[in-house]
Formats: sequence, structure tokens, C-alpha cells
Amino acid sequence: MIHQAPIESVGHGAVGVARIDGKVHFVPDALPGSVVRFEVEEDKGTWARARLVDVVDPSPFSTEPVCRHADECGGCQWQRARPIAQREWKRRVVVDSLERIGGLAEPPVSRTRQAGSSYGYRNRMDFSVRAGRPALHRRRSEDLVALEECPVLHPLVETMLGLAGLGELDGFTLRAGIRTGDRLVVIQGDLPDGADRWGVPVCRVARGEVESLIGPPFLREVVAGVPFRITGSAFFQNSTEGADVLAEVVAASAGRGGTLLDLYAGGGLFSCTIGRRFDRVVAVESAGLATDDFAHNAAGLDHIELHRSRVEDAGDVVASVSGSTVIADPPRAGLGRKGVDVIVRADPARIVLVSCDPGSLGRDARLLAEAGYRLVESVPLDLFPQTFHVEVVSTFVR
Ligand SMILES: C[S@@+](CC[C@H](N)C(=O)[O-])C[C@H]1O[C@@H](n2cnc3c(N)ncnc32)[C@H](O)[C@@H]1O
Repeated sequence: MIHQAPIESVGHGAVGVARIDGKVHFVPDALPGSVVRFEVEEDKGTWARARLVDVVDPSPFSTEPVCRHADECGGCQWQRARPIAQREWKRRVVVDSLERIGGLAEPPVSRTRQAGSSYGYRNRMDFSVRAGRPALHRRRSEDLVALEECPVLHPLVETMLGLAGLGELDGFTLRAGIRTGDRLVVIQGDLPDGADRWGVPVCRVARGEVESLIGPPFLREVVAGVPFRITGSAFFQNSTEGADVLAEVVAASAGRGGTLLDLYAGGGLFSCTIGRRFDRVVAVESAGLATDDFAHNAAGLDHIELHRSRVEDAGDVVASVSGSTVIADPPRAGLGRKGVDVIVRADPARIVLVSCDPGSLGRDARLLAEAGYRLVESVPLDLFPQTFHVEVVSTFVR
């Protein structure tokens, strides 16, 4: 049966929310403010999941997409929405998660801060291959869409989409240092014939080890005025302009002086920028490529020490720096109970939590509240315009 209803609000994952006789219907890809027709695919009794059939009346927040693949590619969900509306929807998703999952009444969530350009911001993208072309997943599907363009990529990265022979690979990663002009291709599979004419360094990463194929297996980038080396597929913030803003917002929350505990430290983004304001920095990171980069990036900063360990296994290290300020930037799954338990052993007065998933932020906020920490402020950052992704910097105090 086909229903027609206005989309009232938005849930995480770019899902429009409509009500029929009070019952919530989740309609993927439907924009708030639009009137749409949809068909129920799964009725859960108190709520239902539906499929968008068509848009009867477009959202006042809609705009024309820039990319020809915008309606099929799963990389971007909101190219048809104005960036200012995207930012407000991201804020609402964060508020909703802190209320519903975190159990917090009226959580202190500020406006979403713009963090870089609306297009041309990504310094990295991981691609599959289809029909001899770079490809990403089709929206809500395991199928692939072969790409002619990808305008959210920084031009230094997007120009590499045309490198001859990429389509022979099993998959690959394109990345660039926006501030240095360095570029790097990380391949899966055999080096294509003619790769030596790409004019770009090429490497391969297997079982956590990097293999240099052409040129150096790393690139250089600059964030907040500080140089970084990034090797192979090692994690680094995917938007360089966004990383500047992230470092600035985290710095404002973290303060200065005393000991900083930098958990899930990656290649040292926070230790090597914000860490300069602290007397001592103790960092914990588990991935080998990242810790090698960290050691390189922190060379000469003698007040920084790095522990290669999973955070869950670093309880003794953490307990030995009791009273420090904590910055924690876990992967999508969040801190979880084990991560929170370890942080609590450090007995910090202040915790700055960087979350890339509103659901895990809600769960971590609840766990931290149970451990005696009060949320002072959450600042959503729009690091990835045109997508539903939102990065949130939250400050908790004991
Ligand atoms: C979101 S990234 C943040 C890195 C860094 N803060 C930055 O902004 O560049 C998360 C990092 O946590 C690391 N990681 C993942 N699970 C971990 C664990 N259980 N213990 C320690 N580090 C972990 C990953 O290798 C990655 O470098």
C-alpha cells in the first residue's frame, strides 16, 4: 500500500521520518520538509520501515546536486539538500541520540560547525573496481557504481581517478597531502602495466606491513601548521581543512598544562598539535603503521611518550597518569564499557570525546554518566558535507 505524508524530521543515516496516525515511518532518502509517497517494506508494529516511491512536493531545503552520480552512489546521501540544512539535521540527530540512547534530558549540543568546503574536501577515498572503472557502493546496496567523477574529492585526488590501469586492480586507495601536493596510490592486487608512468608513488599494504612499489610509501600533510607523515593506508583525518577545525575545537575543550592522555592516537594528530600545550603527553594507539608514523611525527617532542597497545589493555599505563586530561578518539564503535572502564582508571577531571557515530556517542555518554561524568557541551562538526556523517566533540567533567 502506498502512503503519502510530509517528512517531519530526520534520523541517523539520512532517514526521513513521517507519521501516519501517530505511527513513525522511516523513509530512507526522503528530505525533511518534503511531501513524499512511500511503501511500507517492514512493519514492526509500533513503527515501520518504508521505501521512497516519489517526491510529491520537494523540500524547501532542496538544491541541485553537483555530481552526476548523486542519486545512485552510496558515498553521498544529501547532495540534494542545502548545506545549511544538512548541518541543522546533523545537530538534531546528535541531540536525539544523546536523549534517546544517552538518557540525557536537554543535552547541551551547540550548532553544527562548518568544517571546510562543501565540495572538494576529501584527501582520501577507498575504491572498489567495476567495469574497469573506480567504483563505490550503490546506495543501500552491495552493488557497485562505476564513477566518472567524485566532486567531494579534493582536485589533487580526483585527477587520479583517470590513471590508466586502475581498473585492473582489485581495489585501491587514492590520497593526497593537500598542503604539500604529495599524492599516493595504495593498491590491492598486482601493479598495473604502465603504473611507472602515473608519476605518483605507489605502495601496497598487507597484514599491516607496507610494501613500497614506486617511490616513497607515504605522503606528507600539514594540519594546524604542524607537519605529518602518513604511511600507506594508515588512518588520518579524511578532510585536511576539517582536521584544522577539529584540532582547534578539541584544543579549546582540552585546555592546557599537566598531563594529556591521548587515546586512539593514530599518527599523533592531537599529541603533536594540542600536546604542545601540555607538560607531558602519554599516547595509546594499537596499529603498527600509525605508531610508526606517530614516532616519526613526534620526533623531537621529548615530552611525548607512545604506547603501542589496545586501549582496553592499557589500564596500567593509564592508571599511572592519574589526574590527566583525556582526549579519546575511538573508531566508529566508540569507547564501549571497556574503553570507559580504562579511562575511569585515570580518574581524569576532564574528558574530550571525539565521536564519529551519534549512536556510539549516545552509548558512551550514558556509560560516562554512570561513571560520574557530566556532559558539558557537544559540538557537532560538519567534516563530511553532502553525507549524513557527523563528527562530535563532547566535553565531560567529573
Ligand atoms: C578515529 S582514528 C583517530 C586517530 C587520531 N586521533 C586522529 O585524529 O588522526 C582511531 C584510531 O584508533 C586506533 N584504534 C582502533 N582500535 C583501537 C584500540 N582498541 N586501541 C587503540 N587504538 C585503536 C586506530 O588504529 C586509529 O588510528
